[in-house]
Amino acid sequence: MARGLVIGICWTLLWSIFVAGDFQLQNVICESFDNAITNFSRCEMKFIRRGVAAFYMVWKLYNVPIKSVDINVALYKKSNGYRPFLFNQTLDFCYYMRNPRAHPLIYMMHKVFMQASNINHSCPYDHDLIINEFIYKKNDLKDLPIPNGDYMIRVKVAFDKEYRTSIKIYAKRTD
Ligand SMILES: *[C@@H]1O[C@H](CO)[C@@H](O)[C@H](O)[C@H]1NC(C)=O
Ligand SMILES: *[C@@H]1O[C@H](CO)[C@@H](O)[C@H](O)[C@H]1NC(C)=O
Ligand SMILES: *[C@@H]1O[C@H](CO)[C@@H](O)[C@H](O)[C@H]1NC(C)=O
Repeated sequence: MARGLVIGICWTLLWSIFVAGDFQLQNVICESFDNAITNFSRCEMKFIRRGVAAFYMVWKLYNVPIKSVDINVALYKKSNGYRPFLFNQTLDFCYYMRNPRAHPLIYMMHKVFMQASNINHSCPYDHDLIINEFIYKKNDLKDLPIPNGDYMIRVKVAFDKEYRTSIKIYAKRTD
C-alpha cells in the first residue's frame, strides 16, 4: 500500500510537470452477466453539447443487501484493438470504501465518477445504484499519468466473489 502511494505520487508529479491534456468521455457499455441478480435499466452517455457528454446509469440490484463487493479496474489503450495498459487492480470494494485514500489511482477516478451518484458510502448496499447526469469537467482527470490516445476503463464488479457486471467507459485523451 505504501509502495502504491509512492508510485502514485511520483506519477502524479512527473505527469503534472511534463504533460497537460484532457479527456473526453465518448461511450459507455454496461453489461450484466446474470439478469436475475442485477441489471441495468439505464446506461447511457448523452452528448449535451459539442465535446461534452453526460453519463446516466440506473443499476438495479435484486438481492439486497449486498455486503461483499470486489472490483477489478483495468485500463486499456487502443492500438489494433484495446490492449491492457498501465494498470489492472483488483480490490475489496467494501474495505476500499472505508479507506479510499489507500489506493491513490483508484481514488482519483472515484472522486470524479462518484459525484452525482448514490454509491459513495460504505457497504452494505441495499438500493439501486444511480449516477444521474455525471458531466466530466475539464481537468478532473488531468493528473492520470497517460499519453494521448483512445482508452477504455473497464470496471468488473463481483458480488459474493462472483463477477456479475462489467462497465466499460470509453474516453479519448488529447492535448
Ligand atoms: C434487463 O435490462 C434490459 C435493458 O434495460 C431489459 O431489456 C431486460 O428486460 C432486463 N431484464 C430483466 C430480467 O429485468
Ligand atoms: C488482470 O489481472 C488478473 C489477475 O490478477 C488477470 O486474471 C486478468 O486477466 C488481468 N486483466 C487484464 C485486462 O490484464
Ligand atoms: C464521498 O464520501 C466521502 C466520505 O463521506 C467524502 O469525503 C467525499 O467527499 C465524497 N466524495 C464525493 C465525490 O461525493
